[in-house]
Amino acid sequence: MTAQIIDGKAIAQEVRLEWKVRADRLIARGITPGMAVIIVGNDPASKVYVANKVKACAELGLYSIHIELPENATEAELLAEIETLNRDPRIHGILVQLPLPKHLDAHRVIEAINPDKDVDGFHEKNVGALVTGETPFPSCTPYGVMVMLEKTGVQIEGKHAVVVGRSNIVGKPMALLLLHKNATVTICTSKTVDLARHTRDADILVAAVGKPNFITKDMVKPGAVVIDVGINRNSEGKLVGDVDFANVKEVAGYITPVPGGVGPMTITMLIANTVRAAERLSGLNK
Ligand code: GUN
Repeated sequence: MTAQIIDGKAIAQEVRLEWKVRADRLIARGITPGMAVIIVGNDPASKVYVANKVKACAELGLYSIHIELPENATEAELLAEIETLNRDPRIHGILVQLPLPKHLDAHRVIEAINPDKDVDGFHEKNVGALVTGETPFPSCTPYGVMVMLEKTGVQIEGKHAVVVGRSNIVGKPMALLLLHKNATVTICTSKTVDLARHTRDADILVAAVGKPNFITKDMVKPGAVVIDVGINRNSEGKLVGDVDFANVKEVAGYITPVPGGVGPMTITMLIANTVRAAERLSGLNK
């Protein structure tokens, strides 16, 4: 059996058009949803992600600003930028690209963002709301995976979902979103003893560990839905995920490619969260 490839680019395009309708509704009332992205330093991968986020905003007619701070920026400088954006009525969503240089305290920085503008859903208030199932801003990558599963018609309720990776950005929120849809959820890490025993039992397997070819064919149950959140460069400099795609696709039922899988969904859900933030801040949505 060869897996069906989940086309993240096509699904992202479809979902973007749905959110464009909501953005246009706001624009017709004189409110242009606005997003600010702050990047500190020169990490090349982060620069590409940020450029893609700003481009996607422009394509949908959203307002966006892009603030670049030098690698040696102080925490006070970064917090001052956030404070200005918190007060700026043209800005509904604020995103500080992670990882930050080591001398900056990411937790303090995230907590400085107005939670009503926290389109990453990383502020403690929104993380708490995610736990209770009420968050207005699900973290973009896991949110994108959920929409992708829904659009593909994957049944989640009652299924065993195994998330490999426990990061605050992907693994933990991913597990919670699946749990809210009544999956039975197992969270593993790259250190889990006999990891394959867990992954082989997954109906839905989400890989978010950041290691190329980490999930191999023998770790996947025939017919499983395999979602690859990894974005890595292999030894030849090629973009690859965490899953050994060429071999795993021979056993999986569905599989996401890298690139063209989860990546385009992440940016789309950032747009969704920004439009929702603009709706909420202008009193048009809870
Ligand atoms: N770095 C990698 N993924 C993300 C993300 O979703 N948001 C932010 N702010 N930084 C990231």
